[in-house]
Amino acid sequence: MNKFPEATARITQLVRDLNEQNYRYHVLADPAIDDIAYDRLAAELADLEHRHPELVQPDSPSQRVGGAPTSNFPTAVHKVPMLSLDNSYSAGDIEAFDQRVRDLLPEEGIAYVAELKIDGVALSLRYEDSLLVRAATRGNGQQGDDITANARTIRAVPLRLREEGVSCEVRGEVFMTTADFAALNSDREREGSTLFANPRNSTAGTLKMQDSTVVAQRRLCFYAYWLQWDGDQPKSQSAQLGALRDWGMPVNPATAHCADLNAVFDFYHRFEEQRDQLPYEIDGIVLKVDAVDQQRRLGATAKSPRWQMAYKFPARRAQTTLAAIQFQVGRTGAVTPVAELEPVLLAGTTIRRATLHNEDEIARKDIRPGDTVVLEKGGDVIPKIVEVVLDARPPGTSPLEFPRHCPVCTAELVRDPEEAASRCENPACAAQLKRRLQHFASRNAMDVEGLGPAAVEQLVERDLVADVGDLYSLTRESLSNLDRLAAKSAGNLIAGIEASKSRPFDQLLFGLGLRHVGSTIATNLCRSFPSLEALSAASAAELEAVPEIGPTIARSVAAFFAAPDSEVLLDKLRDAGVQLHFEEAEPAIADAPLAGQTVVITGTLSGLSRDRAADLVRKMGGKITGSVSKKTDLLIAGDQAGSKLAAAQELEVRIIDEVEFMRRLEAAGLTTED
Ligand code: IVH
Repeated sequence: MNKFPEATARITQLVRDLNEQNYRYHVLADPAIDDIAYDRLAAELADLEHRHPELVQPDSPSQRVGGAPTSNFPTAVHKVPMLSLDNSYSAGDIEAFDQRVRDLLPEEGIAYVAELKIDGVALSLRYEDSLLVRAATRGNGQQGDDITANARTIRAVPLRLREEGVSCEVRGEVFMTTADFAALNSDREREGSTLFANPRNSTAGTLKMQDSTVVAQRRLCFYAYWLQWDGDQPKSQSAQLGALRDWGMPVNPATAHCADLNAVFDFYHRFEEQRDQLPYEIDGIVLKVDAVDQQRRLGATAKSPRWQMAYKFPARRAQTTLAAIQFQVGRTGAVTPVAELEPVLLAGTTIRRATLHNEDEIARKDIRPGDTVVLEKGGDVIPKIVEVVLDARPPGTSPLEFPRHCPVCTAELVRDPEEAASRCENPACAAQLKRRLQHFASRNAMDVEGLGPAAVEQLVERDLVADVGDLYSLTRESLSNLDRLAAKSAGNLIAGIEASKSRPFDQLLFGLGLRHVGSTIATNLCRSFPSLEALSAASAAELEAVPEIGPTIARSVAAFFAAPDSEVLLDKLRDAGVQLHFEEAEPAIADAPLAGQTVVITGTLSGLSRDRAADLVRKMGGKITGSVSKKTDLLIAGDQAGSKLAAAQELEVRIIDEVEFMRRLEAAGLTTED
């Protein structure tokens, strides 16, 4: 026994009481004491632990507040692989699934358990002798990240099971309630941080944070749905959920034992209707063959178990009125129609605008101003207009006449035969010039401080610049009579323009905004042709020899340098003393974590553009290529990654998602703003 029997006894009692209250709150949803009483007990415990640090117990609630930030998560290997889940949106597929199960298990009764499919992040929890010892993400299914410190901060995750001597693995879903997600995003908006696209992304981002004290503040929730026990494994999914609940694990009460498929369909329809009233996002239901013995005999394919399947809800839709269609002229002259909508709430966000893509899209869907339109938002994608409600069309409308002339400069629009786009080809078009100047000034390009949209607007409206080269002949005097550009900001702008002269040549090339030349392509071009002279003299065939460059890009680059206007522009840049040769930049950080690695980026990243991501990879010492091969070391896979992801899996290339990429950035001391 120790020297402080009284303190030990009191600590033990407090830990037990607090954990009991936690259980009542998170598992039984039946709290016995209020927050004030809870906090009072917690404060008493904190005080005792402060005085007797050697008496702190591993399952003390004080152990949930997080520890020192870590720089990298250790790898956690899954004893039982975390497979994926077959899924479908169609009732027919679910019937086929049921039939397959019956065919494989002829003449047996099949009962199912139906659970909600919460749109969160899977988590594996390992308990030894009833104490939580490890928490891991799914990762690639074979191994994930050990995020024990972060998982401990989740109040719904018991640090000790209520049954003694249990060693087991529990899996379930970590999620954020819709309300907590909205609050988090509004805080982030106030701070000017990038917003999370949906509660799943915010949960994934939170779980992989380096600093568990921040995780503790984010109020993540957890529901268990899977158990692997080293003892006498319960014989059915229902019994497993029951055991989990008895041991103090939160289990979603919205779960049903279904004697047949009809009951599964009822469950599905009931929750599809209630979906908006639930405090968390669900994207469907999961049906599982109840009997463990049947599960075992059904087995699994390489990808997923044959005894469970997700039945997903259709994407959420809303209707609203299309008030007007506006036409925006982009940097390369493409005219894009944009729908101005009566604001409408869809899956938690207010939608006011939606792109209509191009003329063909509008014609195909016969979209007219004044129409009632159906909007759809699936997962985290940008809302799109799916169709017009023809019955609601007001009388007297006619099909939209797509403009034949530029809405800004009135030049005749040219229909691009390769794309569906209509373009304004007037190089002097004010709208294009403004977009070009903004692009030139942007951070990945020439990073011209002081040249924001307001300044650009005035420079163009006052005819002070006709191309980006004219920026370099602006003086304080020529800026002196611009509205709202006080002397001080005029000085800042001149200084910003001056500073931009020393930007690396690849940033200049990107800033010139040649069609099809993003920042990765610009850098590749500069590596092969490291000066303006060399690049402008290169033929299309020579350009095509550069990695990642195909005929379209080669033609675009050659056409740019052949144009007389470009010659005028390049002379201005040369005269101004802008840097026109290329030197390979040193990786920005000393122990470049991706040094020597060949990296491919695929899919949609929600928090940053692919160009920006590519720059960051280069800053970490990595080399970007466009296709996956045996030489690829790492694939960064965003949403909707397709063939490259499949190729990487095939070749066993290491794959990381956006959240992991962000984490590595953070570990390297970089941010998406770098
Ligand atoms: S069982 C074999 N049950 O859905 C993978 N999954 O799209 C485990 N999910 O990664 C499937 N609620 O994170 C199961 N009640 C539930 C679920 C659930 C949410 C998630 C899980 C999985 C994803 C598959």
